[in-house]
Amino acid sequence: MYHSIWLMTIPLLLCAVWAHAGEPASTSPAAQPPCMRVLLVRNESGRTTTITPAEFAKLPQATVRDKIPHTDQDGAYEGVLLHELLRAAGVAFADPAAPDKKLPASLRTAYVLVEASDGYQVVFSIPEIHPDLGGREVLLVNRVNGVPLDAKLAPYQVIVPGSDLHARWIRQVTRIMVQPATAAPVSPQDAAATAPQTGRPSEGQVFLVGTGPGDPELMSVKAAQLLKRADIVFCYSWMKDEVAPFVRPGAVEVASPLLMGGQYCGQNPDDFQGELQERVRQTNEALDQLKTRIRAAVADGKTVAFADNGDPTIFSPWGWVPDLLAEFRPVVIPGMSSFNAANAVLQRGLAGQRSLILSSGSDLGRPDPQGRLSSTLVFFTQRVEIQKLMGQLRDRYPADTPVAIVCDVSYPSERILRGQLGTFADVVAKEQLPLLYLLYVGDALGVATAAK
Ligand SMILES: C[S@@+](CC[C@H](N)C(=O)[O-])C[C@H]1O[C@@H](n2cnc3c(N)ncnc32)[C@H](O)[C@@H]1O
Repeated sequence: MYHSIWLMTIPLLLCAVWAHAGEPASTSPAAQPPCMRVLLVRNESGRTTTITPAEFAKLPQATVRDKIPHTDQDGAYEGVLLHELLRAAGVAFADPAAPDKKLPASLRTAYVLVEASDGYQVVFSIPEIHPDLGGREVLLVNRVNGVPLDAKLAPYQVIVPGSDLHARWIRQVTRIMVQPATAAPVSPQDAAATAPQTGRPSEGQVFLVGTGPGDPELMSVKAAQLLKRADIVFCYSWMKDEVAPFVRPGAVEVASPLLMGGQYCGQNPDDFQGELQERVRQTNEALDQLKTRIRAAVADGKTVAFADNGDPTIFSPWGWVPDLLAEFRPVVIPGMSSFNAANAVLQRGLAGQRSLILSSGSDLGRPDPQGRLSSTLVFFTQRVEIQKLMGQLRDRYPADTPVAIVCDVSYPSERILRGQLGTFADVVAKEQLPLLYLLYVGDALGVATAAK
């Protein structure tokens, strides 16, 4: 977990380590074996150079010795000095107009942003990585003690000799960017204009982001940071107002309701008849439009996010994104599910419980030969007919089984209804249930109490 923000100032050194969703390299290096992973290096004028492992091996190699973190062993780290790598990628350390000046104007306020495949980031100042400018021999390594880095570190790791602030020894490095500190980041258009080696700006990224159960304080730092910098945030209509305060003005785009749940996305209309056939056709059109929109945004270097309530992998209307938008290699940022938040207000832990089933309502789990169920069930109730479900549950659980409904968890309107299964239908019948509620049934709730 890299949730905290650390910012420290050291004389002459700007040294910041922080983490957020980041922009893993557009080539999705994480999906490639380390030996094939490319490194993207962007210079101060926005030109991106792609460095293959073979090209890396041809750069001037250097070795430094330092302790291997969290061990008492020494490592002989082999790789390329960071400033040499940047030089090879076109960073102009020497200014032809003023050769006696050690630090050219273009780099005086720039910093080096190093990024890992999971979005972890570390910042170095220019002087700190250049021995001629008073810095250290900071190395980007791909081998230690004569062997390639293991999978947890590969393809590249930064080594800061003599520093035991290992949070800066960033591993799984896939992208290094020289960023101007005082100006707006280089626009994709500028990058395209000055990118003779790749011929294109660095690509944008797509994220599926869990925004938590409702209370903004339960949104992860990572999700909040990502939403803040996203250029486009897709959401369904009911989340528009909730998401808007966290994103740039105008970034929210309401997605077609046809895409919700993805049931008909990518289906063949000929497999359906009548109205359904037309619906499949329209859904596919909406999906194509969405893909066209994302393709253009990504090519333009934009960050695109799909915002989802709770956790985006739990009964999510965007659950289809990782599969059907696989071409954009979406990164999933987990969120706190309403289930987690409801456990907290119910003050229930699951230690010692045999099993717990999260259900959309259509499946109650496998009964024993007597037709009885013993797991605790938690229903995400969006498609549930509650009284009908109560009847099904009464057939499978003893009447004194504890039951709870958690309404609007983490919102100001949050409330809990508790009872025993045998009589809970009456409790529910007297209540006006909100749109958002979770139903719990089973022993994990502890001893059943009267309704409250
Ligand atoms: C489409 S599912 C989305 C679940 C979401 N991905 C999550 O992890 O919480 C919607 C259902 O989640 C539950 N839900 C979501 N937010 C809730 C909240 N704040 N309070 C209670 N239930 C909630 C309700 O059962 C609702 O019908």
